[in-house]
Parts: sequence; C-alpha cells; structure tokens
Amino acid sequence: SSPVPRAVVDLDVPGPTISRHIYGHFAEHLGRCIYGGFYVGENSPIPNVHGLRTDVIEALRAIAIPNLRWPGGCFADEYHWRDGIGPKDQRPTMVNTNWGDVVEDNSFGTHEFMELCELLGADAYITGNVGSGTVQEMSEWVDYLTREGDSPMARLRRANGREKPWRVPFFGIGNEPWGCGGNMSAPVYAAQARRYATFVRSHGENEMVRIAGGANVDDYAWTDALMRDLVCDTCPRSEPGPYQAISLHSYTFRDSFEAKGQARGFSTEDWYATFANAWWMEELITRHSTVMDRYDPHRKVGLVVDEWGAWWDAKPGTNPHFLQQDNTLRDALIASLHFDIFHRHTERVIMANLAQTVNVLQAPILTNPTSGAMVLTPTYHVLAMNLGHHDATRLDVRWVDDLPAHADDGARPFPLVSVSASRKGDTALISATNLDPAAPHTIRLDLRGAAAAVDGARVLTAAALDACNTPEAPDAVSPAVFSDWSLADGVLELVIPRAAYVTVSLGLE
Ligand code: AHR
Repeated sequence: SSPVPRAVVDLDVPGPTISRHIYGHFAEHLGRCIYGGFYVGENSPIPNVHGLRTDVIEALRAIAIPNLRWPGGCFADEYHWRDGIGPKDQRPTMVNTNWGDVVEDNSFGTHEFMELCELLGADAYITGNVGSGTVQEMSEWVDYLTREGDSPMARLRRANGREKPWRVPFFGIGNEPWGCGGNMSAPVYAAQARRYATFVRSHGENEMVRIAGGANVDDYAWTDALMRDLVCDTCPRSEPGPYQAISLHSYTFRDSFEAKGQARGFSTEDWYATFANAWWMEELITRHSTVMDRYDPHRKVGLVVDEWGAWWDAKPGTNPHFLQQDNTLRDALIASLHFDIFHRHTERVIMANLAQTVNVLQAPILTNPTSGAMVLTPTYHVLAMNLGHHDATRLDVRWVDDLPAHADDGARPFPLVSVSASRKGDTALISATNLDPAAPHTIRLDLRGAAAAVDGARVLTAAALDACNTPEAPDAVSPAVFSDWSLADGVLELVIPRAAYVTVSLGLE
C-alpha cells in the first residue's frame, strides 16, 4: 500500500488573516431568493420581523454571515433604487427580464435590505447599476444610504423613516459588465468603472470599498485591462485608484455553462469531472493574482470572488429561470474545497460570496414553496464547521509527500484530499476534505511549534453521494462526532472516510 502522506504544520508561524468576508453571501432578486426566501411580507403566517423570515435570519446568524451582496447579479444592472423606497403601495412595478420576466413589485427595497443586514449583523455589499443606470443615480443612492447631515438624499431618507445613515462598506460598480451588465469590452468598462466609482463617495465615517466588475472565469485579459487602467500614470501612487478591488465570477459545473449536469443521480464520472472543475478555482485565482501582482505588487487591490458555487440543471418541475436545485453531499465538498482554496490565497482574496443564500443555486438554506418549511443544506453545515476560520490567521500546510490524485479519464488531474488550517489565539482549526467517492484516505499532520490537544472533531458525510436534507429528513446530512483520529508525539493522523469533510479543533499551549 502507498505510504501515508505527511504534511508539516508550524503552529507557531501564523500567516495572513483569513478575512471572515470570504464567508460572504449573495441575495439576488431571482426566483425565490428574496421573495419566499428572505421576505414573506408582514401578513405571512411564517414568523417574521417586518416581513423578513425569522428562521432564515436565525440560521444565518448562527453561521455569522459577514456580508450580504444585493440586489444582483444581472438584476443589479436593471434595478432602479428609487422604485424601491417610500410607501409600498405607491412603489412602481417592473419586469425582471433576466429571471423569467416575472413582475417585481419592489416591496423589498433599500430599507428592507438594510434592515435585513442589521438583523443579520452582516455588512451590506450593494451593487449599483452601470448597465442601464446613470452616474447620478448611483451617486444619489450612496448619498441616500450613507450621508449624515443635510442633503437632498439624506432628507428623502429621513422622510421615508430612517433618521441615521446606514453603514455600507462595500459597493459594486455594476455586475458582469462583459455580459448582462452591458456587454462592454474591457477598455470601455474600465473607463466607465473609473467614472462611476469616482462618484461613489465615502461619506463621513463610511469608508467605502468599491469593487469593479471583474473577469468571467479565465478571462485574464479582462483582469489585465482593469489593472492596467487602475494603476495608470495619472493616479496618485499612494492610492490604488478609484476602486479598491476587482471581482471574479466562476461557477462549478459538470462540464461547462452549456453542460451543467444534474444535481442528483450523477455517475462516478460526473463526480470526478465536477471536482476537476471545482479544483480549477485554485488555478484561476493563482493566475488572476499573477496578473494583478504585475501592476500591484504590494497587493493593495483585492480580488473578490463574489459569485461562486455549483450550478446544475434546474430541478425538474421548477421554473428553469428560477435556478432552483437540490443540494447534496457533493455540493458540501465543493464548498469545503473552495474554502481551502480561498484560505490559501487570502493575501489577495479579500472576499467571496456563495451564490446564492436561499433557494437559488448552491443555497445553504432552502424553503419549501408550499409549507414554507426551512431546510439547512449540507453546504450550510460546511459553513458552520468552518466558523473557526473567520478572521483567524492561516497556518500553512506543507506537504512532504504526494497526495493521492485522480488522473485517469482526460479530466485535469487533481488531488483527492485537500487540507487547510488556521489559528486564533490558543486554538487551531484543521479542515480536511476527501474527494474520493469510494476509498477512505489517511493523512498525517506533523504539528510543530506548540503542544496541541484535540478539543473536538466532526465529520460530514452520508451513505449516498447525492444525499440531501429535506423537510421530512432535515438532518440526513449533518455533522457527527468524528473519532477516527489519533494524536501522538505531535503527529495528528486522520482517517477521512470516502466523500467526507472533517474538522478538528485543537487546543494549543
Ligand atoms: O447567480 C446567477 C447569475 O449568474 C447572476 O445574476 C449573474 O451575475 C451570473 O451570471
């Protein structure tokens, strides 16, 4: 049998901080994410605060949701914020052309979103409209949201019942400008982003991080164009420029956007193809970062992966424009793998947003359209198991031996095991994913630099690779105590079951 792969982890050499914002979320006016997911209206029998579902809020508070991106997605570039303020019965309707041509009644608007963020204890990440909106419209939204004192927009906000400005630390300069956000070329968008971002001002104490619409998947030329423009000769050298970060969107499919694959009932070949694609995120971030390093060697400009996650064919029997899909054990491992990748790139990746929070794509929360019952998906449990990584310092996991790999069918070869680790004070958290659908794998971590004791260990797995949680069986895939570990002479050995995610908490001396 092959030797047990061993890695060295120096517990006393903390790396950069893993921003809690890489555990961010995304809520678009799409299908049942906002309406029926977050917002049911005040007259709903489902317990709510001003129409916002209490159970969903409590579940998201339990995973310390750090930020929420809204109102899109593609919807952001056809959204006009003034339609969503003031008395609800006087708000105009619109048609949501991106997502099924449904009528949007604007009953969930700025005040509702900001109240949601306050109830969640999450930072607001608002994306403005570049594609079909004006600079003035965007600038006035920022005024409305964040201006103290006397100004036309601050007065309008007060007239609508909100005295104090809100805190909005993150603002997106449009969404996917290369596609639904306006079909622009990179140089055209770079000029627009510079112009719009200039008028997204930091008012008072609200220091704004402006995020420009970055690349689609492996479009390194797009990143290059934005970065070249951002660090132009006319920009003061002490400032990175009119925006402080650029985004990256990349979803996990079986093959591609055109051949997404099924959420359930997949084959072993589908499983391997999917994880080859999920691992691609490591290469994408590495290569986009390399482009950024060329212009920004001191890493002042952040990379924000503000749309990621599994995207499957729509659940049979649902509106295909609503992007509803089941969430299985496989989705959970896609998430745990992505978080390991984000941890490894935390010097550049300052934020990431899983698409989307409720009822859309790789959702941690699903709500039943008929009964309203809420279900926490396997992906939710990965977020819960990883809480210890929020704002912790990364511990590098340096492999001394080769990891088992999958490389037999033309898919990109990829390791079957992924591990990351972090430290916060006198505790450390180890995360380990086994992507092998059939065989357990044993690993050894040589823990150096501090005495460690295991405080607790958990495992997330299931008998079926496509197991999900449902209202009838809400805990079918949920964390259990993990006992297949040993720790002797500073060497932690883990026997990770097939298709499983394991976390081990360590107390350090
Ligand atoms: O998340 C669904 C859609 O995917 C978003 O609206 C868009 O930005 C992306 O193409």
